[in-house]
Amino acid sequence: MSATREASSITVPGLRARKGGEPIVCTTAYTTPMAEIADRHCDLVLVGDSVGMVLHGLQSTTEVTLEMMIMHGKAARRGVKQALLVIDMPFGSYEETPEQAFRNASTIIRETGADAVKLEGGVHIAETIAFLVRRGIPVMAHVGLTPQSVNVFGGYRTQGQGEDSRRVLEDAVAVTRAGAFSIVLEKIPASLADEITGAIDIPTIGIGASTGCDGQVLVIDDLLGMFTAFKPKFVKRYATLGEAADKALAAYAQEVRERSFPAPEHVFPDKTSPAGDHDT
Ligand code: KIV
Repeated sequence: MSATREASSITVPGLRARKGGEPIVCTTAYTTPMAEIADRHCDLVLVGDSVGMVLHGLQSTTEVTLEMMIMHGKAARRGVKQALLVIDMPFGSYEETPEQAFRNASTIIRETGADAVKLEGGVHIAETIAFLVRRGIPVMAHVGLTPQSVNVFGGYRTQGQGEDSRRVLEDAVAVTRAGAFSIVLEKIPASLADEITGAIDIPTIGIGASTGCDGQVLVIDDLLGMFTAFKPKFVKRYATLGEAADKALAAYAQEVRERSFPAPEHVFPDKTSPAGDHDT
């Protein structure tokens, strides 16, 4: 097993066929440069509605709009060449009717060129998933802790504890039967994630779930240490880029204030002098 995946485009059926195989690597990306980096290492790049919290400073994903998802989806599309590109449907854009979901999902796909959409929910959204899939829109599902329902849950609480595990299992089975090609399992007990992974025939992608899932996803700003407002237990920081940015800005500010930046190599001499005949 290598750290980077093979250089071939990943399709929806190709990803679905990875059930039980080599772990599927996923992260989020919202900008072209980050999507380019993610594309080099990941099988699936998600333009998550987490963008609202980590880039726009919103309190929850319930404030994210369709326009925001399309703008970031277009940016990510320019960077993703090989991985599967999936875009989150924002809160309020799909729950009303299957027709509303199709209208907005097709707009997302048409405007961004993404491969698929992701939406949150289980039994109650299964009919909508089937409606979309029958009309040509691949759907990734998301059960367990579904952040768009944070106000119903009363916080970002672990789902599927004890007897509640049956509800989450039923959700996973319902969206699988409806035709979802993959499913995110968020913040549920590891034993339940393993049970669901064994019970359904589509890849499970865990976040705060279990190493037994068919793949893992982390929000890019979490794993790079750029979003530090809070850190869920399931987040592992693989870098501290927020700290690095803070140090870099402190050094820049100091040099500007003491007039040591710009240095001679950063300024342009008069072009009539021998050393001045260049513009870069
Ligand atoms: O919005 C998001 O980034 C997500 C992932 C955490 C799965 O839904």
